[in-house]
Amino acid sequence: MANTIPDIPLNDGNTIPQLGFGVFQIEPKDTVEAVRRALEIGYRHIDTAEMYGNEAEVGEAVRTSGLDRDEVFVTSKLNNGFHRPDDARAAFESTLSALKMERIDLFLIHWPLPTLYDGDFVSTWKVLEEFRREGRATSIGVSNFQVAHLERLAAEAEVVPAVNQIEVHPYFGNEEVRSYDRQHNILTQAWSPIAQGKVLDDPTVVDVAEQVGRTPAQVVLRWHVQRGDIVFPKSITPQRIEENFRIFDFELDDTAMERISGLDQGEAGRQGPNPNEFDYVPS
Ligand SMILES: NC(=O)c1ccc[n+]([C@@H]2O[C@H](COP(=O)([O-])OP(=O)(O)OC[C@H]3O[C@@H](n4cnc5c(N)ncnc54)[C@H](OP(=O)(O)O)[C@@H]3O)[C@@H](O)[C@H]2O)c1
Repeated sequence: MANTIPDIPLNDGNTIPQLGFGVFQIEPKDTVEAVRRALEIGYRHIDTAEMYGNEAEVGEAVRTSGLDRDEVFVTSKLNNGFHRPDDARAAFESTLSALKMERIDLFLIHWPLPTLYDGDFVSTWKVLEEFRREGRATSIGVSNFQVAHLERLAAEAEVVPAVNQIEVHPYFGNEEVRSYDRQHNILTQAWSPIAQGKVLDDPTVVDVAEQVGRTPAQVVLRWHVQRGDIVFPKSITPQRIEENFRIFDFELDDTAMERISGLDQGEAGRQGPNPNEFDYVPS
């Protein structure tokens, strides 16, 4: 079975590679090398954010990779301090100029921040619609949006987000939001897909891994992709970057899938902040 990364259709006619490489918590000084390594291995999708402080290094790694710009799918996100429309426009310019790119494949609102800006993420979203009309963002989406936030966009905005990037891993299935996404043709992107390593010692995960002759990280990532979600595990360790890439040359049967899904702890399994309350604005 060849290890081919599927391109998944988005609701706007574009496609996205189902596996990418995440760069949250990679120091700028380490980012060029890590992204270069990922591109050499065969990753063609990089997930960054203004908040991560390494957009410039992601851009440099793509530019110096020897690949055409169009061969690599690049995502970035609007930082929390810039939700007001004019600030969002300026922040998007900064993102493009840090990346040294004329367009980005996917641009997201990083957090809905319902307790800030009078809860008005709709006017922020309308600015992302502008970026898409201008062709500077090929696709647009949201991150950490709960069902109520998505319902407001559906009622008040024109464009349905192409993706919703949310926390999902075996300990936190996030089923309510995933189900809304699925019913409304919004692709779910699963962030912290291996719960930053915390699910890898789980006895069920270890047992499934032993049964299929793969590593715990590979079976958890495989579980995500068989559920249809997009993943972009982060690693600065060359051997792990390679390991996480090899998830399309084996399959989990229904029993293995159900055993991993059965680890869901609901809200108690959430590792990151709750989007209904999160209000961090970097200074
Ligand atoms: N939209 C959002 O709000 C949001 C929030 C969080 C994350 N994200 C995105 O999602 C991406 C992934 O999430 P994440 O970085 O939080 O966590 P993650 O990918 O679930 O886990 C990363 C951690 O697991 C370790 N690791 C990676 N591969 C491994 C393997 N094969 N075996 C053992 N350990 C392994 C890494 O260590 P080493 O690096 O030391 O190898 C790192 O400590 C981020 O990089 C970012 O792009 C988005």
